[in-house]
Amino acid sequence: MKVSISVFSFTALLLAGIVIAAAAQEQVRAPMPIGRRVEIKAPLGLPPVPIPPDNPPTAETIALGRHLYYDPALSSDGTVSCASCHAPQFGFADNRPFSAGVGGKLGGRHAPTVINSAYNPLQFWDGRAPSLEKQAEGPIANPVEMAHSLDGVVNRLQRDPKYVALFREAWGTDQITIDLVTKSIASFERTVLSGDSPFDRYYYGHEKKALSPTAQRGLKIFMDTKKGNCATCHTIGKDYALFTDNKFHNIGIGADMTGKFADIGRCGETKNEDDMGAFKTPTLRDIAQMAPYMHDGSLSTLKDVVDHYIGGGNSNPHLDKQIHSLDFLTFDERDDLKAFLESLTGRLPRDLGPPADLTQKDKESAKGK
Ligand code: HEC
Ligand code: HEC
Repeated sequence: MKVSISVFSFTALLLAGIVIAAAAQEQVRAPMPIGRRVEIKAPLGLPPVPIPPDNPPTAETIALGRHLYYDPALSSDGTVSCASCHAPQFGFADNRPFSAGVGGKLGGRHAPTVINSAYNPLQFWDGRAPSLEKQAEGPIANPVEMAHSLDGVVNRLQRDPKYVALFREAWGTDQITIDLVTKSIASFERTVLSGDSPFDRYYYGHEKKALSPTAQRGLKIFMDTKKGNCATCHTIGKDYALFTDNKFHNIGIGADMTGKFADIGRCGETKNEDDMGAFKTPTLRDIAQMAPYMHDGSLSTLKDVVDHYIGGGNSNPHLDKQIHSLDFLTFDERDDLKAFLESLTGRLPRDLGPPADLTQKDKESAKGK
């Protein structure tokens, strides 16, 4: 009896110790931003930006994040920045089907846009990261992207007096951690928002002339479940439109003649056969600037995308039930659909480009090669 009590109290003591230690570590690991709080204003057609409680954006963390985003110093050999694959001039995506990382190594997926990624409950084509903060660790350590280690990045930044000063201003500490690096980058990304497009001014702003007649017809086809049926997945809400249901679908991209997939997509994450060849529904905002398209960059133009949907996608056992041939659409209707997609190019805020104080050399590699 006595023995069992002491075992019990020993265990309780141990548990309490672990809890206290974990809490203390959490304290050390997670300072809060100290600078000027900023309210990120969502443009017409977008909902309020979700903000994690432990990372409220400040002018200082956003500026620091912007600096980090464009700085190739985050990669092992100092040649690749986030902007190398998510470049402002290509709608914060990549104009190459597969992006080249350190040493010109190619990844196996097309770089999606950073625009409006603040709204994604899950990041990556297969949804494997739960937040922008967590996502940013991915490319830094990925051998075919920035090919660095998280510790390696922290050590390099810690040796740079300019960064030590920027982190101190933003986070009130001289101790740079990967957590503060990714939080700062995420706060910058939360400002990369596109709305207030001709579509938004027409649909939400009630400006009758904001949208051309052909794009207006395209919008009807896009929403009509008996015609394009596009809005079933690329959602348009009553007050705002993200153009994604944040779900994963197989729309018949990347299936070979036998219905097999080079990239199994969401299935790799969930191990659920039903998710075979399914990828996250991407936003369609600023889509005209983001060619090529799809998770494998296999479609070069918006016309190719429309033709893909006309054909109903490559047939395979996992094709989404909402995808079927649209060959009944007339050629004019197909053009209308394309005109509608082109009307989704919005206005981005200023101050999203490379910060002026990055060196000329850095800027060149940030432009993407
Ligand atoms: C070498 C090219 C490359 C670099 C460098 C790179 N990315 Fe990416 N990024 C990609 C690719 C490819 C994907 C999609 C990968 C996947 O889904 O498996 C991606 C996905 C993302 C996503 C997810 C978007 C979505 O809709 O799911 C975000 C956000 C992002 N990257 C931000 C960043 C940030 C921030 C950096 C710098 C720390 C960065 N990327 C560096 C190529 C790159
Ligand atoms: C069943 C859901 C679904 C329906 C219906 C649907 N889409 Fe998609 N759409 C997706 C998914 C998922 C992807 C990404 C697929 C991939 O890369 O494998 C995508 C990709 C796209 C892309 C490329 C985006 C990019 O960043 O590469 C465009 C453009 C597009 N869809 C337009 C449309 C249009 C126009 C329609 C109607 C004719 C439509 N979609 C109907 C789910 C859907």
